[in-house]
Amino acid sequence: MNGYHQLQITNIIPETKDTKTFVLQPLNNWQPIYKAGQFLTLVFDTKHGEKRRSYSISSSPDLDEPLSITIKKVENGEFSRLLLSHSKIGDVLNISDISGLFQLPEKMGETEQFFFLAAGSGITPCYSIIKTLLHCTDKNVMLIYSNKNEEEAIFHQQFLLLQNQFPKKFRAHLLFSSRGNAYKNRLSNWLLQELLKEYLKVETSKALFYLCGPFEYMQTATITLLSDGIPSHNIKKENFNSLPRKTKTIPPDTNEHLVTVHLENQVYQLTVQYPNSILAVAKANHIAIPYSCEAGRCGSCAATCTKGKVWMAYNEVLLDNEIADGRILCCQSYPIDGNVEIFV
Ligand code: FES
Repeated sequence: MNGYHQLQITNIIPETKDTKTFVLQPLNNWQPIYKAGQFLTLVFDTKHGEKRRSYSISSSPDLDEPLSITIKKVENGEFSRLLLSHSKIGDVLNISDISGLFQLPEKMGETEQFFFLAAGSGITPCYSIIKTLLHCTDKNVMLIYSNKNEEEAIFHQQFLLLQNQFPKKFRAHLLFSSRGNAYKNRLSNWLLQELLKEYLKVETSKALFYLCGPFEYMQTATITLLSDGIPSHNIKKENFNSLPRKTKTIPPDTNEHLVTVHLENQVYQLTVQYPNSILAVAKANHIAIPYSCEAGRCGSCAATCTKGKVWMAYNEVLLDNEIADGRILCCQSYPIDGNVEIFV
């Protein structure tokens, strides 16, 4: 496959019965640059054409660790099953890009406590960020981590070790739903409020929350945090879900407009008109705007609109303040009320 970076699998580490970590070595002098919490997008060549899937990076770029991704087998997940069952050391993977907005803030500012709420394989990007925070900062870190049982808890032992290594600034509270007593072992509105009372050590404005898990888990956690007075811009979410999503109907303006795209020191001009999004038109013109989910969920295609107005059909990743700063998701964006300029 042309035009992609390549990574060779140098080690495969079983984590649980259905989860493995793949240690990757970049080829052809490519130096991957990433931030803790991001994901990489693998490109698969199939008989139905090219398919992309994103997998969270479990290594920390701030420690002396090789780039690694951790993948859990997903029921009916064609590519996760392929990777877990058939990949071997020496295999080469094609990668389109590294992206994702589930990261530490550029400036820690007043944040004193980082609070992670993760369930199942949602732990993977959190693991990368937690390692960075513990090894590179003096911030307090709290993890609430939900699983069915200990055997299914990815990085269970690693978190116990981190807790021993950093007893003053890290606490992991693990919930195992198979242990009975659902009140105490399954995250609910009530239980999260109890855990906040116990572990939230600072004013709500000085805590940053990171959420990653299945759809219902994220919903419960978000609603509870908001109703407990946590400002929405202090809640960061990584969505792995593939549930059908509700979209807004159609843009208020469906006329065609010119979109000027700045990408890697090149400038392109595209004529974009609903129902084709900016990303769809870019793809049709072989302009390599990064993308993965094409559903407004991953953030791979994020760009900044510097002129004109863009209407987004759907967004699960950008925060209100980011949108106010002009951030857009190209896969969900349509120019309205005139021409538009974006920087990818
Ligand atoms: S490609 Fe995932 S949000 Fe646009």
